[in-house]
Amino acid sequence: MKTTAAVLRGVGGKWEVEEVELDPPGPGEVLIELVASGLCHSDEHMVTGDLPVAFPVIGGHEGAGRVLEIGPGVTDVVTGDPVVTTFLPSCGRCSYCVRGHTALCDDGAGAMLGPQLDGTYRFHARGEDLGQMCLLGTFARHTVVPVKSVVKIDEGIPLELAALVGCGVTTGVGSAIRAAELHPGDTAVVIGIGGIGANAVQGAKLAGCRYVMAVDPVEFKREKALELGATHVAASMDDAWQRVSELTRGRLADAAILTTGVAEGSYLQPALQLVGKRGRVVVTALGHPSEDTASLSLLELTLYEKQIRGSLFGSSNAQHDVPRLLELYQLGQLKLAELVTRTYALEEINTGYQDMREGRNIRGVIHY
Ligand SMILES: NC(=O)c1ccc[n+]([C@@H]2O[C@H](COP(=O)([O-])OP(=O)(O)OC[C@H]3O[C@@H](n4cnc5c(N)ncnc54)[C@H](O)[C@@H]3O)[C@@H](O)[C@H]2O)c1
Ligand SMILES: [Zn+2]
Ligand SMILES: [Zn+2]
Repeated sequence: MKTTAAVLRGVGGKWEVEEVELDPPGPGEVLIELVASGLCHSDEHMVTGDLPVAFPVIGGHEGAGRVLEIGPGVTDVVTGDPVVTTFLPSCGRCSYCVRGHTALCDDGAGAMLGPQLDGTYRFHARGEDLGQMCLLGTFARHTVVPVKSVVKIDEGIPLELAALVGCGVTTGVGSAIRAAELHPGDTAVVIGIGGIGANAVQGAKLAGCRYVMAVDPVEFKREKALELGATHVAASMDDAWQRVSELTRGRLADAAILTTGVAEGSYLQPALQLVGKRGRVVVTALGHPSEDTASLSLLELTLYEKQIRGSLFGSSNAQHDVPRLLELYQLGQLKLAELVTRTYALEEINTGYQDMREGRNIRGVIHY
């Protein structure tokens, strides 16, 4: 079939919205008609070269829509089902899946390479095969993805909001609850309030933190953080340290979660200083692929038993966490509509990313 997609052909390029050819779903795959796709910073990393990928590629990894057709052997969903696409597949059988770490599923290993799990491509244009960001490519009206990458959700949940749970909401909330292991009464600092950090703030609130400090140089972001559950805000990590130190009588935070647009090596020491004894620094933001230097106090790390942890997809388990988060939304305990600053047509995708770069959006979302 023919459909429309936003294609990136190289580092530094623009998203080119064009007609593309899409093959029918193969074994274990489903054809989805997308309703919405969020504009996450991870796709911007492909533009800047911070996320090495094979070009050309169809971007987008935070979507929701309905199943239009199922491939041979698919039994988990039927035509018409509403689904959220998750940016990592989970096979349920590999060593990581069976230990409950489905975000680390072995099937996710090749998610940035371009082709589907069997090594062949579903999208084609101008005589070339087109890769799919994270096996998904949600910057397209239709896509074919592994059934292992979709979560069936209940009818009645607005799909244009459910899309955000495909990456940002699950990654942010999971970073706070699962990776940072926040508990009632704790103090959390979230550094960088975009689509991920805004949800780390919501996660810290859900965890029952007494203080949630949101750090962002952009005033609008700090205002939004207060709406989403932050108790305090600061424009820099230095300012945050002063306030957190006063609030906690010098004990400092239980966790600091790094959700800046890019993770820089220089952010680690100030983040480490924000947490107290046994405090966790969770690195959710993606760093530059070639950066391998971060200067930090090893003495603090040892003597105060501080910990630094990476977190992928909020260390979440999609089949459990996606429906659970949507239920929290239905119960009024998790905000989704408030995360969407502006919506765009697919043709306006470059404007959407410009708005993200300029700090105008918590999340921009494409509506199909
Ligand atoms: N680990 C994962 O599974 C995963 C999943 C999705 C996204 N990510 C990554 O998370 C990061 C955030 O993504 P996003 O979509 O929320 O990005 P975003 O661009 O929407 O938000 C980033 C925010 O960080 C702020 N910021 C920048 N520098 C800062 C600093 N020094 N101190 C405080 N705030 C600062 C910006 O003002 C902005 O508000 C990106 O690196 C993205 O690739 C990781
Ligand atoms: Zn993302
Ligand atoms: Zn697996």
